[in-house]
Amino acid sequence: MNFVIAIDGPAGTGKSSVSRRLARALGARYLDTGAMYRMVTLAVLRAGVDPADADAVTAIAAHLPISVGYDPDENRCYLAGEDVSVEIRGDEVTRAVSTVSSIPAVRDRMVSLQRALAAGQGRIVVEGRDIGTVVVPDAPVKVFLTASAETRAQRRNEQNVAAGLVDNYEGVLADVRRRDRLDSTRAVSPLRAADDAVIIDTSEMTEDEVVARVLKLVRQRSGAAR
Ligand code: DC
Repeated sequence: MNFVIAIDGPAGTGKSSVSRRLARALGARYLDTGAMYRMVTLAVLRAGVDPADADAVTAIAAHLPISVGYDPDENRCYLAGEDVSVEIRGDEVTRAVSTVSSIPAVRDRMVSLQRALAAGQGRIVVEGRDIGTVVVPDAPVKVFLTASAETRAQRRNEQNVAAGLVDNYEGVLADVRRRDRLDSTRAVSPLRAADDAVIIDTSEMTEDEVVARVLKLVRQRSGAAR
């Protein structure tokens, strides 16, 4: 049986590490849908196309040979067979990905790819922004992770400092607020929790606590599905 665990929410909620840990703990497959939007963005930048040029971006996305691994420990992404797992995390891609992912035709293509990738036997943890609302609305487990803007900014600023970037909490906080506004007000698939999602505020929780909470939910819902 196919059993999808949908994990949605904004950046800075611990979503990626929680999702990967869940997949490991459950022996489930893992799908990072943000990586797919990042791959389209990388292809757009490489082609020298303006990320805001919807027609040109749509044409690139339409036939892009995207493939992704399901292993939560590897999280590998391939563009026409080339391993781009590191390059899609770079600054250039991160800056342009919101624009690319707001183009309706790009979302249509990604959503149908994601549905095909999430199908199949067994459990799969699917991480993104619209998994519970659009991609797999009938997923038996839907979680929406949140955290205050201050907490998310603090976490990201700490990551920046650890990576050798400047310590700039106020700047990061302003950016988090700006992106929240863009993400929640865009016309197509705005970031919001599904009506039947379990909302978990991670501001005051450790990662262990969040993982334990979702595992409990999976156990309850697996029982109900039998
Ligand atoms: O989770 P991330 O930072 O890798 O996501 C990259 C971008 O893609 C981010 O701007 C949000 C967008 N995204 C989306 O619109 N829908 C998804 N299902 C996943 C990511």
